[in-house]
Amino acid sequence: MQKLKVFSAAFVVFSLLHIGAAKDLRTVTEPKNPEICTSLNATSDDDTQTIQKALDSCTKGQAVALLSNSTFYAGPLTIPSGVSLLVEEHAILRAIPNPKLYDKGANKCGTYDDYGGECKAFISILKANGSGIYGKGTIDGQGGAYINSQNVTWWEVSSAARQHDKVPNNPPIIQINNSVDITLYQIVLRNAPLDHINSRKTTGLTVWKVTIYTPKASSSTDGIDMDGNQNVTIAHTKITTTSYTIVIRASEAPSRHISAYNLHLNRAYGTAIGTNTKHGVSNVNFSNITMTILTYGINIVTNSLNGGLVANISYNNICMYRVRHPVHLDMFSPNITGNLKPQFMNIFLNKVQVGNSGDFVFHGIEKSNPIEVELHNTRVSKGSSWSVKNAIVTGDWKDDLNGRTHCPHNVNNLLE
Ligand SMILES: *[C@@H]1O[C@H](CO)[C@@H](O)[C@H](O)[C@H]1NC(C)=O
Ligand SMILES: *[C@@H]1O[C@H](CO)[C@@H](O)[C@H](O)[C@H]1NC(C)=O
Ligand SMILES: *[C@@H]1O[C@H](CO)[C@@H](O)[C@H](O)[C@H]1NC(C)=O
Ligand SMILES: *[C@@H]1O[C@H](CO)[C@@H](O)[C@H](O)[C@H]1NC(C)=O
Ligand SMILES: *[C@@H]1O[C@H](CO)[C@@H](O)[C@H](O)[C@H]1NC(C)=O
Ligand SMILES: *[C@@H]1O[C@H](CO)[C@@H](O)[C@H](O)[C@H]1NC(C)=O
Ligand SMILES: *[C@@H]1O[C@H](CO)[C@@H](O)[C@H](O)[C@H]1NC(C)=O
Ligand SMILES: *[C@@H]1O[C@H](CO)[C@@H](O)[C@H](O)[C@H]1NC(C)=O
Ligand SMILES: *[C@@H]1O[C@H](CO)[C@@H](O)[C@H](O)[C@H]1NC(C)=O
Ligand SMILES: *[C@@H]1O[C@H](CO)[C@@H](O)[C@H](O)[C@H]1NC(C)=O
Repeated sequence: MQKLKVFSAAFVVFSLLHIGAAKDLRTVTEPKNPEICTSLNATSDDDTQTIQKALDSCTKGQAVALLSNSTFYAGPLTIPSGVSLLVEEHAILRAIPNPKLYDKGANKCGTYDDYGGECKAFISILKANGSGIYGKGTIDGQGGAYINSQNVTWWEVSSAARQHDKVPNNPPIIQINNSVDITLYQIVLRNAPLDHINSRKTTGLTVWKVTIYTPKASSSTDGIDMDGNQNVTIAHTKITTTSYTIVIRASEAPSRHISAYNLHLNRAYGTAIGTNTKHGVSNVNFSNITMTILTYGINIVTNSLNGGLVANISYNNICMYRVRHPVHLDMFSPNITGNLKPQFMNIFLNKVQVGNSGDFVFHGIEKSNPIEVELHNTRVSKGSSWSVKNAIVTGDWKDDLNGRTHCPHNVNNLLE
C-alpha cells in the first residue's frame, strides 16, 4: 500500500465524499421494439422519399420497419416526434455519399472551414418526444466512400481539416436536438463521416445494446457526443472509434444525471468530460466499463475560458488495458485563459484497475481551488507516473497489476 502524496493543501480532511444520485434519475429498463406501422423493402435505388413518407404518415408510438436482407440507400431523413425507425436484422441503411444532399445552404458540406456544422445529419431527431431507432440492423454512414469526382472521402476531408487546424463540414449519422425521451436500441452504427450520435439539449436519452464501429483509417469520428443533456442512460454498448467514444460537454446547457454502465470502449482516443464545461457537468456515474487501447481513459479536461463546475462524478469498476493516460484531470487543456474558473469537486474512483503503466495527472488551476478526488481499491502497474498539482487526492493505491487478466471478460479477441 502506498499513500498518495498530497502536494497542495495544508489540511486534508480524510472523509468519504458524499455523492448522492449520481445517475439517471429515471428508472430505465431494457427497451422493447414498438409496433410496426409500415414495412419497406429496398428498391436498390434512392429510397429517401419512400422512407420519409412512411415516417411522416406513421402513427405516433409506432415504427417504420426496413425489412431484413435488403440494402437501402438514402439521403437525409427526419424522424418525426413520437415515431421510430426500425432497421431489421440483416438490413442495412446506407447514407448516399453526396455532400449536396446534406448541404444546409452555404454549399460547404464536404469541405472544411473554421466552424463546421454546414451539413444536415443523415438522420435528424429534432424537437421530438418519444422517438427512437431500433432493430438489429446496420446504419452505415459511409465515411470511407468517395464524395466527389476527385475521389475524396468524408474521412479525408476530416484529416485535411485536422492538418490545417480547421473543422470538417461532414454529416453526423444521428443528430438529436431539443428532444425528450429518445431511445436507440440494438442498432449497429458504422462508418460515421463525423459523430455517430450527436445529442444536444435533450432530456431522457437511452442508448442500449448499441454497437458503434469505425475502422482505424477513419478520422474525427466520435461515438456518442453529448452537450447539455439530462437523464441519460448508456448501457450494454460497445464503441470502437477513432476520436472520443463518449464525450460529455456543457457548452449550451448543463449536463447532469448520466449513467453509463456495462460498456466496452475500444481502440479510440478515449472518453472526455469537457473541454467545455461552462454550464456545469454533475451527477455522472460510469460503472462496469472495460477500456482498451485508448489514449485517454478517465479524462476530465477544461480551462479557465470554458470552465464551470464539474461535480459528483463517480467511476466504479473500471478495467483498463493499454490505456496511455488512464486518469487525466486537467484544468489547462488546452492552456487558454478567461474568466470562468473551473472547479472539480467530488470525483470518486472506486476499483479502477489498470494493467499497463501509464500517466496519472491531476492538475488543478490554483491552490485555493483544488481538484478533489478520492480513490478506492485502485490498482495500477509498476512504472506508472503520477503528477499532482493543486489537487487533493485522497485514498490508497497499489501498483501490483500487470496485463489484462483483471478485466472481467477475455479482452483478447476484442483487441485490434
Ligand atoms: C453533489 O452531491 C451532493 C450530495 O448529494 C449535493 O449536495 C450537491 O448538490 C451535488 N452537486 C451538484 C452540482 O449537483
Ligand atoms: C453508480 O452506479 C452503480 C451501478 O448502478 C451503483 O452501484 C452506484 O451506487 C452508483 N453510484 C452513485 C454515486 O450513484
Ligand atoms: C429526470 O427524471 C426524473 C425522474 O423521472 C424527473 O423527475 C426529472 O424531471 C427529469 N429531469 C428533467 C430535466 O426532465
Ligand atoms: C418484401 O420482399 C419480400 C421478398 O421478396 C416479400 O415476400 C414481401 O412481401 C415484401 N414485403 C413488402 C412489404 O413489400
Ligand atoms: C435473411 O437472410 C438470412 C441469411 O441468408 C436468412 O436466414 C433469413 O431467413 C432471411 N430473412 C428474411 C426475412 O428473408
Ligand atoms: C412527451 O409526451 C408524453 C406523452 O407521450 C407527455 O406526457 C409529455 O408531457 C411530453 N413531454 C413534453 C416535454 O412534451
Ligand atoms: C476515381 O476513381 C475512379 C474509379 O476507381 C477512376 O476511374 C477515376 O479516374 C478516379 N478519379 C480521380 C480524379 O482520381
Ligand atoms: C442542433 O444543435 C446544434 C447545437 O446547438 C446546432 O449547431 C445545429 O444547427 C442544430 N441542428 C439542427 C438541425 O437544428
Ligand atoms: C456490474 O458488474 C457486477 C459484477 O460484475 C454486477 O453484479 C453488477 O450488477 C453490474 N452493475 C450494473 C449496473 O450492471
Ligand atoms: C499556461 O500558460 C501560461 C502562460 O503562457 C504559463 O505561464 C503556464 O505555465 C501554463 N500552464 C501550464 C500548466 O501549462
